[in-house]
Amino acid sequence: MKEIKFNVPFLAGNERKYLDEVFQNMQFAGNGPFTNRVQSFLEAYLNAPRVLLTHSCTGALELAAMLAGFGPGDEVIVPSFTFVTSASAIQRTGATVVFCEVDQETMIVDLVDLESKITEKTKGVVIVDYAGNTCNFEQVTKICSQYGLECIEDAAQGLGSLYKGKKLSTLARFGAISFHETKNIHSGLGGCLVINNQKDVEKAEMVWERGTNRSAFFKGLVDKYSWQEIGSSFYPSELQAAFLFAQLEGLETNLKKRKDVWESYFNEISKIEKRSKFRILKTPDWCENNAHLFGLIFETPEMADKIRIDLNKHGINAVIHYVPLHESKVGADLGYTASDLPITSNAASCLLRLPLHHELSQDDVFYIIQTLGELLDSNSPNYRL
Ligand SMILES: Cc1ncc(COP(=O)(O)O)c(C=O)c1O
Repeated sequence: MKEIKFNVPFLAGNERKYLDEVFQNMQFAGNGPFTNRVQSFLEAYLNAPRVLLTHSCTGALELAAMLAGFGPGDEVIVPSFTFVTSASAIQRTGATVVFCEVDQETMIVDLVDLESKITEKTKGVVIVDYAGNTCNFEQVTKICSQYGLECIEDAAQGLGSLYKGKKLSTLARFGAISFHETKNIHSGLGGCLVINNQKDVEKAEMVWERGTNRSAFFKGLVDKYSWQEIGSSFYPSELQAAFLFAQLEGLETNLKKRKDVWESYFNEISKIEKRSKFRILKTPDWCENNAHLFGLIFETPEMADKIRIDLNKHGINAVIHYVPLHESKVGADLGYTASDLPITSNAASCLLRLPLHHELSQDDVFYIIQTLGELLDSNSPNYRL
C-alpha cells in the first residue's frame, strides 16, 4: 500500500552550502551576515520597512503583543480557531483574550461577531490568515480606526499569499510569519516579525535585541550599548538564518509546485463536491493564496472522522486541524464552555486537510483524489449520499 505523508519539509538545494559558509564566517550566534541577508530579502519581497527574524512565529507574536502595548486590564479579540500561541502571546502581556467566531466557509475570523465583542476594555485584535487567506481587511482597518484598536496579523501560514495584490503580513501594524518545518518555507523552527510602520522600528529593534540598543551600536549611532526597554532574546542563530536564506531562494519553485498540486485537487475534487456532502474550504475572491493547505469541510463531524480514518487506512495521511481554543483547558479557565462559539466548534470538527507538499507526484495526487471519490461514492451505504 502507498504511504502518503501529510507533510514533507521542503529542501531548496543550497542549505548545506550556506551552513558551511557560517562555519567559514565563524559567527554563529545570530544577527550576523545571514540574518541581515534574509531580513533584506524579506523587506524587499514584502515591501515592508523592517523585518526582524525571530526564533518562531510564536516569538514574533509575543514581540508584536509587547510592542502593541497590551497589558493588564486590556481585552484583545482573537478567533478561537487558531494555533495556541495567537492567544498565549496576548495573555503573556497580562491582557485577556476574548474569543470570537470564524466564518464556516473560510475558517477566517467573522468580523460581525468580532465587532459584537468589542467593549470599552478592548485594545486590539489578532487577525489569523488561515490557509494563506484573509478576511476583508478594509473592514478590519475600518473597525480598528473606529474603536481605536491595535491590529496584529498572524500570517504564520501566509508567506507568498496576496490580498488584493498586497502581500499577507503587511496588512496591519505588525505581521508575524512562521518558518516552522510544516510551513511552505522553513528553517526547522523560525519566524519573523514584519513591521509595517517606520515609527515602530527603533523600539522593535531594542525589544528584539534583549531590550538593548545594540542595533544602534552596530550602526555606529551610539558608542556602547545598554539596557533601554523590557525585551527578550527573540532572534535565531546564524545557522537557522543561513538555512532559511537557501529556502527563500527556492520560494517561487516551492509556490509553483504547491499551486500545481492545489489546482489538481481543486479541479478534480470540485467535480465530486457537486454530488457529495462536503465542500472545499473557500478561498475568498480577494485572495491569491500560497497553496499552504487544502481543506474539506464535511456536513457532519462523524462524516469527517469516518473519511479521515478510511483515508488513513488507505495510507493517505489526511489530518484535522486546530481544536478551538475556547474548548481547551485554558479556554475553560478563562470561563468558556464548548457551546459558547457553536459555529467554530462545528466547523472545526468537520474539517479535514489533505496531504500537500512539494514531493507529491501526479500519481500520488491522482491516488488521493480517486480514493476520496471511491469513499464518497454514491453507491456506498456508509455515507448515505
Ligand atoms: C496561525 C498560527 N499562528 C502561530 C503559529 C506558531 O508558529 P511557530 O510554530 O512558528 O511558533 C502557528 C503554527 O502553526 C499557526 O498556525
